Amino acid sequence: MFNQKWNNLVGYQIYIKSFFDSNNDGIGDINGITKKLDYIKNLGVNFIWICPFYDSPMDDNGYDIRDYYQIDSSYGTMDDLKNLISEAHKRNLKVVIDLVMNHTSDENKWFILSEQKVEPFTDFYIWKDGKIIKDKICPPNNWQSFFSGSAWGYSEKRKQYFLKIFSKKMPDLNYENEKVFEEMEKIIAFYSNLKVDGFRVDAIAHIGKDLTFKNAKNIKKTYKSFSNLPNTHKYLKKFNQIFKKYDMFTMGELGGDPSRKDILEYTTKNELDMVFSFEQLSVFNKDDTINLKNLMKTLKYKNKISICGGSPVLFWLNHDYPRLKSKIKNEKESSNAQICLAGLMYMLKGTPIIYNGEELGMENYPYSSIDEFKDVNAKMLYENSKDKKQTLCYLKENSRDNSRTIMQWNSKKYAGFSTHEPWNYVNKNYKILNAELEQNQANSVLSAYKSILKTRANNLDIISNGKYKFFRKNAILGYFIENNNQKLAVLANFGENAKKLPFKNYKVAYGNKIFKSNEILPYEILILKSK
Ligand code: NOJ
Repeated sequence: MFNQKWNNLVGYQIYIKSFFDSNNDGIGDINGITKKLDYIKNLGVNFIWICPFYDSPMDDNGYDIRDYYQIDSSYGTMDDLKNLISEAHKRNLKVVIDLVMNHTSDENKWFILSEQKVEPFTDFYIWKDGKIIKDKICPPNNWQSFFSGSAWGYSEKRKQYFLKIFSKKMPDLNYENEKVFEEMEKIIAFYSNLKVDGFRVDAIAHIGKDLTFKNAKNIKKTYKSFSNLPNTHKYLKKFNQIFKKYDMFTMGELGGDPSRKDILEYTTKNELDMVFSFEQLSVFNKDDTINLKNLMKTLKYKNKISICGGSPVLFWLNHDYPRLKSKIKNEKESSNAQICLAGLMYMLKGTPIIYNGEELGMENYPYSSIDEFKDVNAKMLYENSKDKKQTLCYLKENSRDNSRTIMQWNSKKYAGFSTHEPWNYVNKNYKILNAELEQNQANSVLSAYKSILKTRANNLDIISNGKYKFFRKNAILGYFIENNNQKLAVLANFGENAKKLPFKNYKVAYGNKIFKSNEILPYEILILKSK
């Protein structure tokens, strides 16, 4: 169910806390985003998606919402948000905000009242009695949290367990309760009234649970008991009416291994406008090189979703994954390899979203000890792990903290983010890797991203209406797009040798290297257009 207004747009995701600090307290804020709107516009994007800025105890950096109607004081005020929306609209940038519907903070007043069984909140969350095993009270079943450990928390007050599939401070809402829908509708109406254009709907694949609450058979995959179930689709069809009523656009995050059938049901059956699914994670080999077979598969898969009428978000990473360049750091030319991946993904049909810092080729932070990690997920994983040394190794490479380091604006102290020491680390490479420097370098990752997005914008007709044919010959891969006798070819060479191009009569619309003859060089991406 594609929302025509959003067809062909490109987005930019902002992790507010690390983006830009306007009041120099060390924490990024709403006015910081407003100050950088021209930079964002200049990239060639049409909308921004801002991670949660609501009042929160920040157990999970704002995905744990205490009050949906307040801005967290560290991020600014409601007036700042209104100003940001108006300034974005002046620049023809739409504004998407994160809507967290699966859970709240345990400090949200709904939960506090639910714990005390105050109506109408008693059943706002998923409460269950524990099981008595050998005189000990135990969780109702074997379900595991995404952040590790049991998916159940115990309330001393209510003497019952509550479901929490993320951290213990993030209890899951109960969508079997009509009143929860009503409260969510009020929130949707509130932000629609503020002229927000759409929502990135957090963890939406998990709002429906297996209501038998029986043990999951496979302890490693207990998330299947609360991911992409029929009741999720049922609730979403109901929510879709609400989203439509307030003219709100939606992009849903689909965790929990959705099948292609699920993805299509979400996007073609009046549920969501577009979806994030995570096939691209298979493109990264364990040794930080690119898996070409899976790259081809991923590109084809995203295209198949489009062909079937679904609407994929095209993205390589977000605030929950390490930096793209670090995932492929053992490719011979990692910056050019990243540019090749960007071109291949963002010339597909769908909605590209660039994650802040990706356009600079920002890299993972060189962590050395567990005390340096800030993310609740990293901490829980470490706490619950048996082999601490191995877990630390895993976290260094894969922790979400890597993508939440401070945005690298320039070579000044704290990378130009703030004059105050920032809440999180600044990567030590900021003096040679930052926006200011890259703006002026023709071969920088930033220049490449801008050119790729421009090439996309110039060829939207072919991209959105054309027929795709995929191509792979050894280390060269990509696709041809054909529409009304117009042809585009998007090809990248991940091999070590230059190769002759397999065709003629094309002109170069974009290339990341200096195109000399009819050849494609190692780590070169070419976007060619028929003459
Ligand atoms: C997905 C978000 O992207 C992630 O950052 C968060 O921890 C979980 N949902 C829980 O809200």
